[in-house]
Amino acid sequence: MEMCGVVVSSVFAIVLVLQLGLTLIMAQREEQQTGVAGKEVILSCKIINHHKDVTCTWKYKYKEVSSTILRFSRTQVLKGKAPMIHRSELNLSSKQLKVSDLNLDDAGIYICECHPHSVSISLQVFKLSISSNGHFLINEDLELTLMQNSSHPQPHLSISLFNVANNIVKPEILQKDAPQKYILKLKHLNTIDSGTWTCHIHSDSPSINQNISFDVKVLGFGKEHMETMYTNVGNTVILSWYLNFRGIAWKEGFAGKLNWEPQGNRIVHELLDFNVTTHRELHETKKSNHIWFEIPEKKTRSTIEVKIPKVQLNHSGQYQCQLEINSRRMKSMRALVVMQVSADPAGPLSRGSKMSLLCQVSGPLPSNAHLLWERVNGTQLETKKSKQHEAKVEVSVSAPGLWNCHLMEDNNIKISLNYTVEEAHVWNSYAVIGAIIGASVLLIGLVCLCIIMETSKKDGTSKTVLAGKEDMSVSTPDV
Ligand SMILES: *[C@@H]1O[C@H](CO)[C@@H](O)[C@H](O)[C@H]1NC(C)=O
Ligand SMILES: *[C@@H]1O[C@H](CO)[C@@H](O)[C@H](O)[C@H]1NC(C)=O
Ligand SMILES: *[C@@H]1O[C@H](CO)[C@@H](O)[C@H](O)[C@H]1NC(C)=O
Ligand SMILES: *[C@@H]1O[C@H](CO)[C@@H](O)[C@H](O)[C@H]1NC(C)=O
Ligand SMILES: *[C@@H]1O[C@H](CO)[C@@H](O)[C@H](O)[C@H]1NC(C)=O
Ligand SMILES: *[C@@H]1O[C@H](CO)[C@@H](O)[C@H](O)[C@H]1NC(C)=O
Ligand SMILES: *[C@@H]1O[C@H](CO)[C@@H](O)[C@H](O)[C@H]1NC(C)=O
Repeated sequence: MEMCGVVVSSVFAIVLVLQLGLTLIMAQREEQQTGVAGKEVILSCKIINHHKDVTCTWKYKYKEVSSTILRFSRTQVLKGKAPMIHRSELNLSSKQLKVSDLNLDDAGIYICECHPHSVSISLQVFKLSISSNGHFLINEDLELTLMQNSSHPQPHLSISLFNVANNIVKPEILQKDAPQKYILKLKHLNTIDSGTWTCHIHSDSPSINQNISFDVKVLGFGKEHMETMYTNVGNTVILSWYLNFRGIAWKEGFAGKLNWEPQGNRIVHELLDFNVTTHRELHETKKSNHIWFEIPEKKTRSTIEVKIPKVQLNHSGQYQCQLEINSRRMKSMRALVVMQVSADPAGPLSRGSKMSLLCQVSGPLPSNAHLLWERVNGTQLETKKSKQHEAKVEVSVSAPGLWNCHLMEDNNIKISLNYTVEEAHVWNSYAVIGAIIGASVLLIGLVCLCIIMETSKKDGTSKTVLAGKEDMSVSTPDV
């Protein structure tokens, strides 16, 4: 019986304690809200049935330190001394408190008190910082720093990253200072990564689902790899470098230049320099001592361009466009290879003699490329290929015809040049002489014919006269 009484009173005591605890928890029940640094947050004072004329207070508390933000009644608002007062705004009709331009220090408990009621909101603030202010050069690495602050112990977060196409990407996540700070690293950005990304923050307890979006701008040239441009002597060539600063609304100014290193010559010439303003205007300035190239007129100013009107062998070499932003550099190369064909001796080929046709390019060829002389004579193909690592090929020609020199890269024709070997006009001049002789003979013949005819005509007349005379003489005896 005594035993039973002890049990009953113990149970009663436990129930009492539990109830007390529950009541305490109920009293301290607070809402959870998250905010993002730099953005604003609206905190609601959800007290419905309170006296209209009562004075209310918005208070801020971090750990055990609390301060007043605002004290307000229906008619007036008094500002307190809390750190965020100059960024706080009250909506008197709804009693909502808006805190703008949040920072990590704004984390804490916000209490709205309208005696005897009160509402507590625990504000957790996240701050996402992006390296280089979101402005990257192609191939650079992105680093994000996520920090959180709240009055309560901070939860461990699970973080996911969504790219421009809203696809999940897997960054490297460093958790050394977690849960206060996380560092996310993403390597080798590309121009297509430019746009708005989303960082998703998740936690089960307390329940957090916060998205933070951020902009990434990756500046790059149209084609990042070195490109070889092949052309023939005398052609017009335009070398161009497209930069995507307009498309991605790049906000920082930068400067750069275009250098040329002639083939087989280590001296680097600066051909032009350029700059792009913060308003995304491109200005190019040509260096004075090079008259052989031009800067073409263009409508969309996103391309650095040089135009070489009549390209020569000595215009070949490496053209390098480079730019610099806050001592970070980026460059893009183009190699110009010029092809030329020539004959020795030049001019038509006389019968029985020989000439050599030379096809050459201005610089060494890559290992996957070669030169090829080709002649189609009827159905028979004559070819000659250049030796490995030789930038020229020569053929000996003893008959007239059309020769093609091809620059081949992996068995694809990159460029071709034709050379027509003409036969010397020896035979033709005989024909001309023959024609002249023929014509002369004809002329002489004609002249002779005329003379003969004339002579025979004269003889005929005299005969008639004679005949007449004869007639007369015949008739005379009649008279
Ligand atoms: C104040 O809150 C009310 C009710 O939520 C809303 O209709 C009104 O637009 C708010 N006023 C301002 C200035 O935000
Ligand atoms: C969190 O907020 C408190 C209160 O403003 C501040 O004292 C503290 O430095 C903040 N912590 C961080 C990591 O910013
Ligand atoms: C956060 O962003 C992701 C990716 O864009 C989206 O799938 C998700 O619905 C968003 N969540 C919230 C709470 O907005
Ligand atoms: C950019 O180029 C223009 C034209 O050459 C020049 O007038 C201007 O001073 C340059 N700006 C900068 C910031 O270098
Ligand atoms: C290339 O050679 C020609 C002569 O063959 C010369 O007139 C010209 O100035 C040279 N061009 C350059 C850029 O050196
Ligand atoms: C090639 O051309 C030459 C003269 O142009 C001719 O004599 C020869 O018969 C031709 N050979 C073939 C196989 O057509
Ligand atoms: C070179 O000759 C080929 C025929 O062998 C012809 O198809 C081509 O158009 C010619 N090219 C030039 C540039 O004359």
